[in-house]
Amino acid sequence: MTQTLTLRRPDDFHLHLRDGAMLRTVLPETARDFARAIIMPNLVPPVVTGADARAYQGRIMEALPKDAPFEPLMTLYLTEETDPEDLVAAHASGLITAVKLYPAGATTNSQSGVRDVEKVQPVLDAMAEAGVPLCVHGEVTTHDVDIFDREQVFIETVLDPLRRRTPGLKVIMEHITTSHALDYLREGGPLLGATVTTHHLMIDRNHMLVGGVRPHYYCLPIVKRATHRTALAEAATSGQERLFLGTDSAPHLDGAKLSACGCAGVFSASNTMACLAQLFEEADALDKLEAFTSSIGATFYGLPLNPDTITLERSDAPVPVPAGLDVPGEGSLTVFDPARPIHWRVL
Ligand code: DOR
Ligand code: ZN
Repeated sequence: MTQTLTLRRPDDFHLHLRDGAMLRTVLPETARDFARAIIMPNLVPPVVTGADARAYQGRIMEALPKDAPFEPLMTLYLTEETDPEDLVAAHASGLITAVKLYPAGATTNSQSGVRDVEKVQPVLDAMAEAGVPLCVHGEVTTHDVDIFDREQVFIETVLDPLRRRTPGLKVIMEHITTSHALDYLREGGPLLGATVTTHHLMIDRNHMLVGGVRPHYYCLPIVKRATHRTALAEAATSGQERLFLGTDSAPHLDGAKLSACGCAGVFSASNTMACLAQLFEEADALDKLEAFTSSIGATFYGLPLNPDTITLERSDAPVPVPAGLDVPGEGSLTVFDPARPIHWRVL
């Protein structure tokens, strides 16, 4: 028996496309199912100025399959040297949608990030005034804080003070991984949103560590204990307000993942919508999927809802995890394994 589900075309509010051959390989995977995506700026070197964003947008459009109805929503990478005038002008012209705050050292290519948030206060004030949203990688990086506690400590010691200092600033807590972040979101009011990834809704640290270490599940923020995953999944599948999909699909070549010091990132662009349909079906909440993937985020960002749709099909037989992709001249790329049978595919 098959069943179909038609949804408003979704948006991915947190996506890594990289550049060059990797960009050309992964972009069609997202463009097939999604109408828009917030494009992360952590290239080497990062996308710091309006001119950088304009050039990167051009490379993305060049890599896009012909006639694919996909719009990259560009971001700037906040540094202690960011020029608020350049940033505000890039937003006013429609070139960028948001600005990304990486605490220095928090994750992949974050070495140019912010060491002292007080140094960027004038930029944050200008953003609040001009209505530019701030996307935040919410983890402290101090070595005395355990990696599993870094999100909670960040919220208490950095994010909450920052928001109090900057009334009017729209903030998105990116890829939240804990019930602490959910609690903070719930009490946060209309200017606070959060994204959650497909993988943080489906796997926890046991998947990563029991019976052998699975490098393909290593990402940042690191996956937490099961109770956090369950809280996140319950929130997402019950239509939690201001909580929406940002896949954080973050491709790294298998050689870089399967190494003595493996890179952080899960590549889920190819099968995210199938995985989410499975998750929402298991929660008896297929009727909430469209809000999570296609309207809560757009509404939070103040974007129009997408006019067209995608259709998913459910089959009794499980659909295998998609085969890895070949990045020409560079190596292979493994697609996220959600650790359970998936019965859905996007038609
Ligand atoms: O797992 C991650 N990978 N988390 C991030 O924050 C960055 C990303 C990447 O760029 O590889
Ligand atoms: Zn990311």
